[in-house]
Amino acid sequence: MDKLLNVLKTIKYPEMDRDIVDFGMVKTADFILENEISVVLQNITNMKKYESIKKEILKKMSSKYPEKNISVELLKKDVNDVNLNKNVNIKSDEKLLGNIKHVIAVGSGKGGVGKSTVTVSLAIAMAKKGYKVGLLDADIWGPSVPTMMGTESEKPFANEKNKILPIENFGIQMMSIGYFLEENTPVIWRGPLVTGALKQFMTEVEWPELDYLFIDLPPGTGDVQLTLAQSAKIDGVIIVTTPQKIAYIDAIKGIVMFQKLNIPVIGLLENMSYFECPDTRKKHYIFGEGGGSMVSEKFNVPLLGKVPIDPKVTIQGDEGAPIIEVFPDSSVSQAYFKSVEKIVSYFNE
Ligand SMILES: Nc1ncnc2c1ncn2[C@@H]1O[C@H](COP(=O)(O)OP(=O)(O)OP(=O)(O)O)[C@@H](O)[C@H]1O
Ligand SMILES: [Mg+2]
Repeated sequence: MDKLLNVLKTIKYPEMDRDIVDFGMVKTADFILENEISVVLQNITNMKKYESIKKEILKKMSSKYPEKNISVELLKKDVNDVNLNKNVNIKSDEKLLGNIKHVIAVGSGKGGVGKSTVTVSLAIAMAKKGYKVGLLDADIWGPSVPTMMGTESEKPFANEKNKILPIENFGIQMMSIGYFLEENTPVIWRGPLVTGALKQFMTEVEWPELDYLFIDLPPGTGDVQLTLAQSAKIDGVIIVTTPQKIAYIDAIKGIVMFQKLNIPVIGLLENMSYFECPDTRKKHYIFGEGGGSMVSEKFNVPLLGKVPIDPKVTIQGDEGAPIIEVFPDSSVSQAYFKSVEKIVSYFNE
């Protein structure tokens, strides 16, 4: 066993510095029968990464033990009995997500201002600073996290306790209704079904120990926002806006709603602030200028940052390889890293 573990310890989890033994991903590794080595893995939820780990194990083991047959399998249990729209009863004094250090919701009044892009980017920037980060996609009607995070084809499975395991990529633990839907299937639920699914993502998902959990909210000020505010421990909210009036008027509605719900507004993030011409370096304020600063001053909420317009954001989002992962030095990524510093200091960390 030890000899085998030593080989397995040389295999890193993709994109990470730690090896698969250290991560607790090796359940057993044994010489069995006369001629076989059996490796049983656990706690890997990203099938692409599992396949590459398996390949690496087969390669290393067969070069060390060329005379043996090597079998690698992953323990997983189907999420059959998780009914995503059952009614979840929770004691009124119980706050969900209470064991997560900092829970941050990302909202806006208006749709399409870049909430999901911002949430994904802040989560990755935070993880790059060394924090343990999760991402909950609370946009039941229009989940974007699976696509943006390159996990569209992943399907969750359960652990021995029948809890759903989050899907991992870029070091982020994620859950989204998108992982349970067939492609192009619209969710046409409302009211109780939506809030039921959301509560299950908080109660029936085995969230690991996390420093920060980011929640990507749907647009507006509706059921999802209220359910979360009432049933979960939300430590703060970040409001995303774009500079023009029709966007920041809705951002103000968002700020007022969260203040009424006694959820602190950590800050405002202005997205699509300007476009910097790659040839002349001149900034063009395509959606107007100053909306974010104006709201920040008037409502006394900090402006966390201004993220420029960059066509790479859309391309990378569609390809599931976020700009912050692929182009960490771009102005867009730098704006996110600075915002994350402000968030961390908000929590005195
Ligand atoms: N800074 C940016 N530069 C260029 N494109 C951007 C930028 N931010 C977001 N986008 C693009 O704008 C579109 C909308 O972004 P996103 O889906 O993140 O918005 P949203 O607020 O979550 O939308 P919804 O309200 O539908 O949930 C996406 O195609 C995204 O790639
Ligand atoms: Mg979105």
